[in-house]
Amino acid sequence: MPLDIVIGTQWGDEGKGRIVDLLSAQADIVARYNGGDNAGHTVTVGKQTFKLHLIPSGIVHPDTLGVLGNGLVINPATLLSEMEMLKKMGINVGPERVRLSFAAHMITPAHRALDLAQEKARGKSQIGTTGRGIGPAYTDKAARRGLRLEDMLNPQTFYAKMVAHVEGVNVQLQALYQAEQLDAEAIAREYSEYARQLAPYICDVGEELYEALNSNKRVLAEGAQGTLLDLDLGTYPFVTSSYPTAAGALVGLGLGIFPVGRVIGVTKAFQTRVGAGPFPTEVFGETAERLRGSGANPWDEFGTTTGRPRRVGWLDGVLLRYAVRVNGITELDITKLDILTGLNPLHICVGYRANGKEYATLPMGPTDLAPFEPIYEELAGWDKDIQTARTRNDFPKEALQFIRRIEEVSGVPVRLVSIGAERDQIAEIK
Ligand code: IMO
Ligand code: MG
Repeated sequence: MPLDIVIGTQWGDEGKGRIVDLLSAQADIVARYNGGDNAGHTVTVGKQTFKLHLIPSGIVHPDTLGVLGNGLVINPATLLSEMEMLKKMGINVGPERVRLSFAAHMITPAHRALDLAQEKARGKSQIGTTGRGIGPAYTDKAARRGLRLEDMLNPQTFYAKMVAHVEGVNVQLQALYQAEQLDAEAIAREYSEYARQLAPYICDVGEELYEALNSNKRVLAEGAQGTLLDLDLGTYPFVTSSYPTAAGALVGLGLGIFPVGRVIGVTKAFQTRVGAGPFPTEVFGETAERLRGSGANPWDEFGTTTGRPRRVGWLDGVLLRYAVRVNGITELDITKLDILTGLNPLHICVGYRANGKEYATLPMGPTDLAPFEPIYEELAGWDKDIQTARTRNDFPKEALQFIRRIEEVSGVPVRLVSIGAERDQIAEIK
């Protein structure tokens, strides 16, 4: 069986969790391949809302196996409390259902302290990180001094490695940032306990995924963050430190150039961003408040991980086309189309303008977007409630026209449209 990959086409928070939840019903394994607990994936099943940061959203289905690949940075404290929460909700999260790659890196309190200190030191040029220690953990990985989950399997050496790691960071915290010192022994003791609890989960997930795919099992790769937050391909330096794009799934799961089936791009019907960085189609005022929501509902545009209000704007077709190209997207799923109900007219950015010239694609990637002004196309809105739509025919013609334009602008077909947070509030467009 080929591998299917679900990725975000924007700056994260596209509703990937919701789509993965749906597709997981037919999957044997759901595997996260990048990022850490900076991700926040919300899944609503009946009255229960699951907010997941590390464990793949597919875990809410009783028969799927959840895998965390080598491309992740894992905070064991977050992971264990997430497991605890799921257990309380009646979901089995034992080692027979959750597997952790021995090669995934660990996030420690020292990484979190560094993340916060570095952000503070950036002053006005802050990235607006989630403060979860993501950047410093990947920095240690690239510098070849990181701690991997496999280190947890050897209690004799693990304790000393943890102490040395925290002491090393203490030197930086003091010399560079005049920040508070951390208690290395206390952290090493805490992590030794985590090691004891997590050891049964640690294995070679690449081998397991390879075997599964070769024996016709269905594997779904679940991306965290989004294309425009990709370390190489995103709006650098306002990015995360991992590879959320489709190729990151192969590297982050240890799969090699394995045949890939569907690359499912999830896009909101508008654009959002949390944290700093360029955002050509950003809007303010009344329209922004409409798109963002008040914060009263779990689906309003406030960060799942940090609670920050998200910046909002119109759908950016130039960046969507870029995402299709760099990921090899085969189909799009649109989320939150219902939020546009009652807004009239609607806008889609179909090109950029700079220095008197018009651009249909980015001349030099998405790094420096400041000079570009969006070229908008106006589309008629609709007033009819679309939350009960389940097939193409249930939508007003204006909504279908909006979807059609997204297909034309992106160059790929739209397959699913989500029109509410409930599991069944999704329509198949094909
Ligand atoms: P999901 O998986 C939205 C953003 C942060 C910040 C930048 C770098 O829920 O879509 P980091 O802590 O990763 O070093 O922060 O990336 N960011 C996200 N934005 N959704 C996410 O995840 C994000 N994960 C990181 O806000 O701008
Ligand atoms: Mg999120």
